[in-house]
Amino acid sequence: MRLNILVLPGDGIGAEITREAVKVLRTVCELHGHELAMKEGLIGGASLDATGSPISAATLKAAGAADAVLLGAVGLPKYDHLPPAQRAERGLLDLRQAMGVFANLRPVKAHPALYGASPLKEALIAGTDLLIVRELMGGLYFGQPRAFEGTGKDRRAFNTLPYSYVEVERIARMAFELARTRRNKVTSVDKANVLETSQLWRQVVTEIAAEYPDVTLDHLYVDNAAMQLVLNPKGFDVLLTENLFGDILSDEAAVLAGSIGLLPSGSLGSRRADGKLPGLYEPIHGSAPDLAGKGIANPLGSIGSAAAMLEWSFGLKAEAQAIEAAIDHVIQHGPTTPDLLGGTGTTASVGGAVCSRIKAMAKVTK
Ligand code: IPM
Ligand code: MG
Repeated sequence: MRLNILVLPGDGIGAEITREAVKVLRTVCELHGHELAMKEGLIGGASLDATGSPISAATLKAAGAADAVLLGAVGLPKYDHLPPAQRAERGLLDLRQAMGVFANLRPVKAHPALYGASPLKEALIAGTDLLIVRELMGGLYFGQPRAFEGTGKDRRAFNTLPYSYVEVERIARMAFELARTRRNKVTSVDKANVLETSQLWRQVVTEIAAEYPDVTLDHLYVDNAAMQLVLNPKGFDVLLTENLFGDILSDEAAVLAGSIGLLPSGSLGSRRADGKLPGLYEPIHGSAPDLAGKGIANPLGSIGSAAAMLEWSFGLKAEAQAIEAAIDHVIQHGPTTPDLLGGTGTTASVGGAVCSRIKAMAKVTK
């Protein structure tokens, strides 16, 4: 198979971690006889510096032409003073919109070797295996009108939180379909006791649920969901929620895994006419300016995202599983980066170890 991939390293640790994910992709493609057709582009601060815009028309075009995009991270403090349209993060938001990826899937698993890496008690996190399905193209992130107005004590600002039937319907279907491949349970998270948007959300999710009688649906208010995530994480299978709630809850859920550096994500839209399902793959963490350039950022979130890409956008399940098994092995036997129980490995040594393990396993199974 020919894999047309656009790599957008972005800012901060983005370049270091995506380099390792690319190494892993190359290893897998060599072993399985796939052709890796890779291009690289600019996004975020890196693009601002080069083109004056956080994402250029050229990058958007390249993303449209690719089968999948692998992204590092965007944003650095030096760009934070810029107006919203020029902030580094805008590049990522525009890319998500342009690619039409409305569903952001964020799997969270607690690995036995890392129970001690979480501040939460082992008995509580053991067995955690949940999937956050975050709506990615609507809500407060994109709602109009929005503005920051006035000066001095007359300053005011507002955002809008809109959702339409269609937007809720498509993400709800995605969640129910995914639940069918897991433990058949969807927990929909909203704030329907206060927000009209959430009342619509709850109505539509409940209506769609009727088509999935084999899937159990429950609803939680977001404040309670935030508490349940750390009180009883095993109570979740698929957690379905809107854009901002999903952003917040996924960082919280990272505590269950032991480090935010571990968590992968993939964002999907609708299948194209040619049958392909383009996706945007990125670890859930940010650009970590404090770690950038030190060579100690955890690449496993990015490597896991590459595995998700092979499975979801290319249907290469065995290849994805080979990467996931290698990640598990490296978590258990090392090397690991300092975020995991004070590991002494480097970004490159962790990436290298994943590649070696993939090669070793391929030899054994031949
Ligand atoms: C994430 C990030 C982004 C988001 C930022 C960088 C715009 O926090 O992917 O979770 O809020 O979606
Ligand atoms: Mg976030």
